[in-house]
Amino acid sequence: MGELLPLQTLAVDIGGSGVKIMILDEQGNPLSERERIETPQPSTPDAILRGIKELAAGKSFDRVSVGYPGVVRQGITETAANLHSDWLGFALREVLSQQLGKPVRVANDADIQGLGAVSGSGVEMVITLGTGVGAALFLHGRLVPNLELGHHPFRKGETYEQQLGRAALDAVGKKRWNQRLGKAIGLLERIYNYDRLYLGGGNTKKIDFVLPPNVQVAPNITGLLGGIALWRD
Ligand code: BGC
Repeated sequence: MGELLPLQTLAVDIGGSGVKIMILDEQGNPLSERERIETPQPSTPDAILRGIKELAAGKSFDRVSVGYPGVVRQGITETAANLHSDWLGFALREVLSQQLGKPVRVANDADIQGLGAVSGSGVEMVITLGTGVGAALFLHGRLVPNLELGHHPFRKGETYEQQLGRAALDAVGKKRWNQRLGKAIGLLERIYNYDRLYLGGGNTKKIDFVLPPNVQVAPNITGLLGGIALWRD
C-alpha cells in the first residue's frame, strides 16, 4: 500500500485592503511564500473570489481555510463593515468550494489570527489593527467566535474601529492613534482581565510605545498560519 500524502492547505486572508494567501503543511508551517493582491474595488464576492482563484492557480493544495473580515456562521458571511454589501448572507464556504473543487472552511479573520497566536493557557485576547478592528477571545485555547468588539463604543461617541481603524490612523496621524491605542489597552485590560493580549494586523508596525508586559505583537503571518486550526477536529 502506498503512503498517504500529507495534506496541503491553501490559507486565504481576505482583508479590506489586501487578499493574502499561503500554502501550509499539516502542522501549519508555510510551504510557500505569502502572496498578496490589492482587494479589488468594488469588493464584491465575485471580484474577490476571482482574485483568490488567480492567486491559487497552478498551486497544489487539498483544502482551503479562509479568514473573512466579518461575522461568519456555518460558512455564511453575515456582516461586511469594510467590504461590498453583496457579502451579507453570502455562502462563501459553498461557493468557493465549488469553484476550487476542494473542501473549504471559513472563520472570522481575527479568530484565525488568534488561533495562530494564542498559547492555549488562560484568558487570551486578540485585537487586530488593520482596515477594521477585529477581536477574538480564548479560554484555555477555546475560541469564543465572532466577538466583534470593533463596533462597540470606545470613546467620544465612537467605536474602537472608528477610533483605531485604518481611516482613523490616516485622519489623526500616528501620535494620536498611539495615544488612543494605549487607552484602549487599558480599558480592555480592566474589562476582560486577560492573561495575555496579542495585537495583530498590518498597523501594529505603527505602534511606537512600550507595551505592557502582558501585551505582545503577533507577527502578521499568524493571520494565515492560524488557518490550519480550522481543520483540527
Ligand atoms: C469586522 C470584524 C473583523 C475586523 C478586522 C471589522 O470591521 O466587523 O469582523 O474581524 O473588521 O478585519
